[in-house]
Amino acid sequence: MNTKEALELLKQKAKTDYLMRHSQATGAIMKALAARFGEDPELWTVAGILHDLDLEETKDNLEQHTLLTKEWLKETDLPEEAIQAICAHNEEYTGCKRVSRFDFALSAAEAVTGLVFASALVLPDKKLASVKPKSVKKRIKEKAFAKNVDRGSILLCEKIDLTVDEFMEISVKAMQDEAHVLEV
Ligand SMILES: [Fe+2]
Repeated sequence: MNTKEALELLKQKAKTDYLMRHSQATGAIMKALAARFGEDPELWTVAGILHDLDLEETKDNLEQHTLLTKEWLKETDLPEEAIQAICAHNEEYTGCKRVSRFDFALSAAEAVTGLVFASALVLPDKKLASVKPKSVKKRIKEKAFAKNVDRGSILLCEKIDLTVDEFMEISVKAMQDEAHVLEV
């Protein structure tokens, strides 16, 4: 499966603007992380785009979140390692453990998107282009700010030997580069 096909699948399943933007932002960060580590950019992008594919159907039943996606994706040519990373991003509910760099990268990437979007929204121009990585880092400690964002998952970047500073640099830049699709 390539990025274009993943986006088409996402459009079929995602009814909300929130899920479209969150998923595309995650894909953008995963692409940048793949480049950082010499991994497969397309595969990592696709996993980012598809990681919450079933969320609108499972949001009230989070034990099923990612397992439904797994059912849908096993009919495709998506490699097992990507399906594993998707399931492991919901480790708390599915019990599917994070093991690989791919798994930790996806969990950290999808969590940080919320903090970056929220950091843009409180700026005067509300633009991703104006977001500073260091400001996003500071927001990690401000628990009342974007309080639904899971700080623990963001800090999983350290499990793949990225400092929080470098992870923020990569994530903010990746989302800024895709601002034309992430901003409405
Ligand atoms: Fe997500």
